[in-house]
Order: sequence, then structure tokens, then C-alpha cells
Amino acid sequence: MKYRHYQLPDSLHPRILQIFKDQGWDWSPKKIADDILRLSDFYIQNPKAVTPWDQPWAQKALLCYYWPLNTLRFQSVYDELQQSDYFSGIDQFIDFGAGPATAASILHEKKQNVLAVETSSVPQKWFPEIQWATQFQVQPKSCFILSYSLTEMSQLPAQALKADALIIIEPASQVDGRNLLHLRKNLLDQQYSVWAPCSHQKDCPLLLHSKSDWCHDRIHFEAPEWFLQIEHFLPIKNKTLTMSYLAVKKQAPAQPEWARLTGDLMKEKGKSRQLICRGPDREFLAWMHRDGDAPEFFRGEKVLIHDFEHKSNELRVKSMKRWVR
Ligand SMILES: C[S@@+](CC[C@H](N)C(=O)[O-])C[C@H]1O[C@@H](n2cnc3c(N)ncnc32)[C@H](O)[C@@H]1O
Repeated sequence: MKYRHYQLPDSLHPRILQIFKDQGWDWSPKKIADDILRLSDFYIQNPKAVTPWDQPWAQKALLCYYWPLNTLRFQSVYDELQQSDYFSGIDQFIDFGAGPATAASILHEKKQNVLAVETSSVPQKWFPEIQWATQFQVQPKSCFILSYSLTEMSQLPAQALKADALIIIEPASQVDGRNLLHLRKNLLDQQYSVWAPCSHQKDCPLLLHSKSDWCHDRIHFEAPEWFLQIEHFLPIKNKTLTMSYLAVKKQAPAQPEWARLTGDLMKEKGKSRQLICRGPDREFLAWMHRDGDAPEFFRGEKVLIHDFEHKSNELRVKSMKRWVR
């Protein structure tokens, strides 16, 4: 698999087909696409409303669209955190607002001890292998996960702060992304350390220097044929998937020497620039075209910058490489 390119697990589509069969639903890519558009409109018009799990059209949209895409978003965040030993010392996971057991299924596959917490009972019968709960105790050595669920809540659930580790994945929208930047600041004030996506514990440059910018990551998605057949009827084609996310822990990470690329490469007159995060300053890496083409690095990658010249808010790079553990 290419770096930050993701494919759906082979088991996912047979699972969806089995649920459709059990429910007595027809498999029609066009009708499923209509259901997805309806749920997307619902979320846009009711940004704080809880997912309408009682509606079969919403169930189909969740299963065929939001579940697969959020599976990959969570998988990418998990992979990122795994690289930095974030999960060391964690012996329980709580997937809060689990929906179709999105994070819980991946963790269950990895033989982790995971509890899925969800107000709707609908997904529970679809995923009987998952341990579901409405009442639960959070032990300190837990990792509390909110995947696209904080967006439906008025505030962070109180139980989240009892866990040692907290992962929040949110839509890459301006409102949700900015809210996450404010939450990052609050959590730092409460003695948490940020493990990802930030490479530092200082102020967020986007919160400090901008009233509108927000941090969001992007992964590449190689869709299977069944998904493309549905997507054919949708206005948006998901060649890439975006998300805003934050992972904090009560223990501090080893001091990183890398920086994170937080923007896409932008070609300008005479130079190419890419937003980078390594502290509270809003900085760009810059490559002058007269020196050759800019190297291809993805948004979200970690890099080591060996040699550069500092000009205003630009780091004119002479030598850098991808950070690989
Ligand atoms: C948009 S869905 C996301 C589902 C899943 N985590 C994902 O990433 O695909 C949000 C879920 O949070 C659930 N939810 C909202 N408020 C909740 C609460 N207070 N307790 C438990 N679940 C909640 C909703 O029922 C819904 O299934």
C-alpha cells in the first residue's frame, strides 16, 4: 500500500450485504446514493442533532457510506499514533458514540479490549461480536474515542477526562475544526499532552494567528467497485478523505524533532510553498523554482528539516526528509 493511501477491508462489503439481506432491503446503488444525500442534508441542516437511527434510509446511508469512510479515517489516525507508541500502557478502549461500531470493529479485529457505547440499539444487532454498553466505568489506563460523535454533543462527555488517552476525530469543517483547536487549548491547560497531529505542546498557530483557519488532515482513498457504483450517483467523488483530529494523553510524548506538513503544496510565482507546523508560528516551507521542483510530500506527513534559510515566515529548504520511525 502506498503511503497514506487506504483501501477498505475485504470483509466490509460482504458484511453490509448480509445486513441488507437480513433486513430485507434491496441493493440499489441509486437508491442508496439518494439515502446518503438525504442523511448528508440532514446533518447540514441539523448540525447538532443526533443521527436519526430510527429511519431505514439513515441506516442504509450509515452502513454504505459513513461507516466505510470513517473506518478509514480512524484506521489512519490509529496508524499515525501507533508509530509514536501512543497506545503503550492502554488496556481498554471506549468507542463513545460508536454508531456502526466504527472504531470498535477495527480494535476488535486487532484483539483489543473495546467497549462500544451508543444510544441507538440498532447497530448492536448488526455487530453481535462487539461488546456494547450504555452504563460503564472508565479506568485510568483507557483510551476514550469519539469518532464523528462529539459533533453531535453539546460538550465533551465527563467520562472522557477519566481516561489516560483521548482521541477525537471530527468532520473537517471550519466549525468542528476550530472547536477542536479550542478544545486542544483547554486540554493542554488541564495538563494533557498533545500526541497528534501536533508536533509540539505550544499554542496552535492557526488559533493564534487566524480567526478562520482550521487544521485538517487528508488521506488517499482507493475505492472498491461497489463503492464507486454508489458514488457514481453522488455529486462528490471521494478520491481523498479529510478529517480534523486530536489525540491527547496524560503522559507526555518523547520530545519530537520532526515537524508536520499541515497544508497542501501551493505553486506560486517563482516558488512553491507548503504550510508546516512545528510551534506557535504560522510558517511555510518554501522551494524556489530556480533551484528545481519542490519534492512531493503529503499533507499530514512528518518531516525532518535538516537545513534551511529563514526568510520572514518561510523556511527555504535546503535539505529535508520524511520522518520514518
Ligand atoms: C455521526 S455518528 C458517528 C458514528 C461512528 N462513531 C463513526 O465514526 O462512524 C454519531 C453517533 O453518536 C451517537 N451518539 C450521540 N450522542 C450520544 C451519547 N450521548 N451517547 C452515546 N452515543 C451518542 C449517535 O447515536 C451516533 O450513532
